[in-house]
Amino acid sequence: MKNIAVLGITGSIGLQTFEVIKELNNELRIIAISAGNNIDLLKEILDDYFVEMVCVRSGSDAYQLKQIYPKIEFVFGDEGLIKVATYSKADLVVNALVGFVGLRPTLAAIKAKKDVALANKETLVVGGRLVKDAIAEYKVKLLPIDSEHSAILQALQGNEHSSISKLIITASGGSFRDKTRDQLKEVSKEQALKHPNWSMGAKITIDSATMMNKGLEVIEAHWLFDVDFDDIEVIMHPESIIHSMVEFKDGAIIAQLGTPDMRIPIQYALCYPKRPYSKINSRLDITKVGSLNFKASDHHRFPLLRLAYEVGRLQGNLPTIMNAANEEAVSLFLADKIKFLQIEDLIMQACSEIPFVAEVDIEDIFYYDKIARQLVQQKGGY
Ligand SMILES: NC(=O)c1ccc[n+]([C@@H]2O[C@H](COP(=O)([O-])OP(=O)(O)OC[C@H]3O[C@@H](n4cnc5c(N)ncnc54)[C@H](OP(=O)(O)O)[C@@H]3O)[C@@H](O)[C@H]2O)c1
Repeated sequence: MKNIAVLGITGSIGLQTFEVIKELNNELRIIAISAGNNIDLLKEILDDYFVEMVCVRSGSDAYQLKQIYPKIEFVFGDEGLIKVATYSKADLVVNALVGFVGLRPTLAAIKAKKDVALANKETLVVGGRLVKDAIAEYKVKLLPIDSEHSAILQALQGNEHSSISKLIITASGGSFRDKTRDQLKEVSKEQALKHPNWSMGAKITIDSATMMNKGLEVIEAHWLFDVDFDDIEVIMHPESIIHSMVEFKDGAIIAQLGTPDMRIPIQYALCYPKRPYSKINSRLDITKVGSLNFKASDHHRFPLLRLAYEVGRLQGNLPTIMNAANEEAVSLFLADKIKFLQIEDLIMQACSEIPFVAEVDIEDIFYYDKIARQLVQQKGGY
């Protein structure tokens, strides 16, 4: 039995992780969880499933929940997330938090010698070097949940790293893939939140529409698989059937296919390298797929993808600035304070206006995260 801690259980990935674990209840058990502010949903989970420790955001929620569920230990806030991430009985931590808040719990879990199944790509974007060093020092596994990176991990099984020619990450193109830049000027939040293939949390759905998500994934892939940015290619594939591919030096390409169902990569990360039978994961009927389409990505149409490559190559404080600016700009857009194309403008401004620093440690990362957020809030009209 593998004991699992799930950070962000009330989110899109968190709930699907819950489904996978309940389906595979002979081998997987949830021992500790965190939620944010969605206390009604958390209560539904606690009425259905016993866990030993729960973290919520506010102390008052923790206090009130303790009156209802006296057998559970409640913790709260950022320190509470660390307690869940390092819970002594957990063997593996699923990080399904959204945003920069995921960095510290990831590092804490690794230092507590837990394997980590990572959905929270922002962790690797801002702290890739720190996470890699910690993984090497504490000798734990870091398993991707993102479908593209899971596909790459699956394609790499049985192959030597030195035989990789390039990684090919597929991109659906998000809600506005068929619109020109001119048409993007007046798009609404409601339109942006309608992803053609995937049902996901709000932030990643907007990131998909701007293609910032694909840029974050390129940086994530660089750190996960130790491949140069020159050897990571993004191609457009509107059907989201091929989740990504690896081209090897002999010319062979290995791809992983499936329906757009995140439970499959979640299960792969939780059970790696095993593949137990699951009746809930959807099956792809290859005879009904029809044609699959591919084309090169256009860095002029999607400037945030171009920016992510530049930022990834330069490193220093830039990934932190880009990530923080994106998180703030997306929040402003979701709060109807800015227009869609202003997301790009604000991120570009933050990256060009905040002075570049080549060497950063964890304190610097927190410092530049704050500075970039302040800049975006000022420019975004707060
Ligand atoms: N959704 C997908 O299909 C998908 C696919 C690939 C990768 N990812 C990545 O997976 C991560 C999670 O995405 P998601 O779509 O599942 O996000 P989501 O639906 O917005 O869920 C985020 C979770 O994090 C919690 N949370 C947010 N801010 C928090 C804070 N400051 N402190 C504590 N908890 C906090 C939320 O709690 P409350 O809701 O209770 O407030 C919720 O449980 C992201 O990094 C995303 O890029 C997602």
